[in-house]
Amino acid sequence: MHYEGIIKKYSRYLPVSGKTPVITLNEGNTPLIFSGYLSGLLGAGFEVYLKYEGLNPTGSFKDRGMTLAISKACEEGSKAVMCASTGNTSASAAAYSAKAGIKCIVLIPNGSIALGKLSQAMIHGATVLAIEGNFDEALKLAREITSEFPITLVNSLNPYRIEGQKTGSFEICDCLGDAPDFHIIPVGNAGNITAYWKGYKEYKQAGKSTALPKMLGFQAQGAAPIVKGHPIKHPKTIATAIKIGNPASWAQAEAARDESGGLINMVTDKQIIEAYKILAEKEGIFAEPASCASVAGLIKLSKTGYFSKRKAKKPTRITCILTGHGLKDPDRAIKSVKMPKVIKPKLKLILKEIGY
Ligand code: F0G
Repeated sequence: MHYEGIIKKYSRYLPVSGKTPVITLNEGNTPLIFSGYLSGLLGAGFEVYLKYEGLNPTGSFKDRGMTLAISKACEEGSKAVMCASTGNTSASAAAYSAKAGIKCIVLIPNGSIALGKLSQAMIHGATVLAIEGNFDEALKLAREITSEFPITLVNSLNPYRIEGQKTGSFEICDCLGDAPDFHIIPVGNAGNITAYWKGYKEYKQAGKSTALPKMLGFQAQGAAPIVKGHPIKHPKTIATAIKIGNPASWAQAEAARDESGGLINMVTDKQIIEAYKILAEKEGIFAEPASCASVAGLIKLSKTGYFSKRKAKKPTRITCILTGHGLKDPDRAIKSVKMPKVIKPKLKLILKEIGY
């Protein structure tokens, strides 16, 4: 059967009806990739899987929520949408708005979003305003404007975003045959951890899975308000996607952590870049830095013995969400490696360089 996106696939779990116009780019259905290298780090009895959300149409998990948010905005007759964004939400909102033929306005923190994401919002024809301020300030403004004018807010405060994004959990359960034991995920504005937890609970209630995972969320150390217990006025991290000091879904993230018996912890930029390079060099997977907070978290916890305490007969299964594609932020990739050597076009010189 031709795959046509998450709304068609999971309509019985979503707030849609026959009247909902389905605005889709065939998002979702992303691969769950077994990681031999990371499983090996944990040792016998552990299986680590990577949910490569960078393979969504605009290169991030945001498309799952955006297909529903834009479809519902159209159903409700909205002609314009707005979001504040560290980049991926704006890329997705711009693409789905283009498909729907409605206006899209995005507020981004000036100088703090990766080049690939900015190019996406612009090429899809969104009105892009770079705010002289951070994400939290941009989101406050977007909330104020959309509460006064006939513009639909498509940040994850829009409940349809969460509804769409919960389909990530459904896919993981469908793929593994049940829920994993642990679910590791980067945390920024905290919408995605909220969505995945909702999805796992609903799938279990529907009889499609028998268990619930422990939810393990990871923030960047310089932008870790939930870990520190207070908003961060000037968040700092190279993982610009999660450079957020006052997450909108803070309480829901804590609920996911507490109800599941999990944790929310943090990783340094150095640990994020280490994970970024491991994924690229050992697994052939290019994920943007913020994505790699999940794998950095896995490695951090594995060193503390967090996972080895379990004594189960079945393998312990861990899923790490890789939220966005590495091509979103080519500058970071180039900064993390050696630049290619420039060489004269001579056969002998090349053979010498490559050791033949
Ligand atoms: N990873 C990536 C690649 C992201 O773009 C985001 C959020 C997150 C993780 C964190 O997800 O906010 O649901 O906790 N990006 C938003 C944006 C804020 O504007 O694109 P979250």
